[in-house]
Amino acid sequence: MSVAVLDDFSRAVTDGLSRARKVIPARYFYDFRGSQLFEDITRLPEYYPTRTERALLERHGDDIARLVGYGRPLVEFGAGAAIKARILLAAMQARTFVPIDISGAFLEDSAQDLARAHPNVRVLPVAGDFTRAIALPALDGPLVGFFPGSTIGNFDHAAAIDLLRSFRRTLGAGARLVIGIDTRKNPHLLEAAYDDAAGVTAQFNLNLLHRINRELDGTIPVDRFEHRAIWHDALGRIEMHLVASDDLEFHAAGQRFRMRANETIHTENSYKYTQPEARLLARAAGWEPAAFWTDKDQLFGLHVWVASEEEAQP
Ligand code: AVJ
Repeated sequence: MSVAVLDDFSRAVTDGLSRARKVIPARYFYDFRGSQLFEDITRLPEYYPTRTERALLERHGDDIARLVGYGRPLVEFGAGAAIKARILLAAMQARTFVPIDISGAFLEDSAQDLARAHPNVRVLPVAGDFTRAIALPALDGPLVGFFPGSTIGNFDHAAAIDLLRSFRRTLGAGARLVIGIDTRKNPHLLEAAYDDAAGVTAQFNLNLLHRINRELDGTIPVDRFEHRAIWHDALGRIEMHLVASDDLEFHAAGQRFRMRANETIHTENSYKYTQPEARLLARAAGWEPAAFWTDKDQLFGLHVWVASEEEAQP
């Protein structure tokens, strides 16, 4: 772990645990173990998003290619293993793929796998945080952005609009965005997807406490915390929390913290959008909705947006 990344995690933890309502941002789930656990989540029977989105990409790949343009460069935000991008690359007959991911080492590995599997595609990985402004290599536009998995759901509405605006700026004039957004649905299905019977999501959530103990010299008694996932209807989001089962006290990053029985650490929001809400989000961020597909049970939404014309500069 580099000093800068450790510092950032340390600051997020000490700041988040000092608040009246304790919180740790969801991006810190993804250390090596957390990334493995997330992979396991994507294969759970209750976790519908991954398989549903993949099926939508397979079913509508040709429609997408016609809308975004054959042979255009594809830029994926937060690429990871880029499994879903392969479906799009093939359908679009893309010749250039730019995976952007925060984990440089992981990115190089998966970029090499991808280059082997798609010898006609030039892979130009960019290591970076897609929530900040990113400089892309020189590419022949217009560009096609890809933001799958409903990662947008981790951002509150204002932050989501900022992020989607910055994607438009990064991609430039004439850009298209292919984006997967989870739908609002029966709360029982949602709560099951975030609190599975095998307890994998619980392990994923609790791993954050193990990570603090490992990386920040923590003394958190992890076995005295429980995983909780609740649907908040007014806010349209699933919340994940870690609930303290007794009054307790621990150290982390050189500071002492106390918690009361039933007090929680809020670790994730996962916002869900109806189709009209997703359209509002697009327009607020300078994109015009061009196409939308869902599965027969309306479990997941796949959208294509077109960059609105830039406002004239004064
Ligand atoms: C990767 C943010 C899309 O919100 O569904 C899965 C993360 N958290 N199970 C989601 C997650 C618990 C996931 N995202």
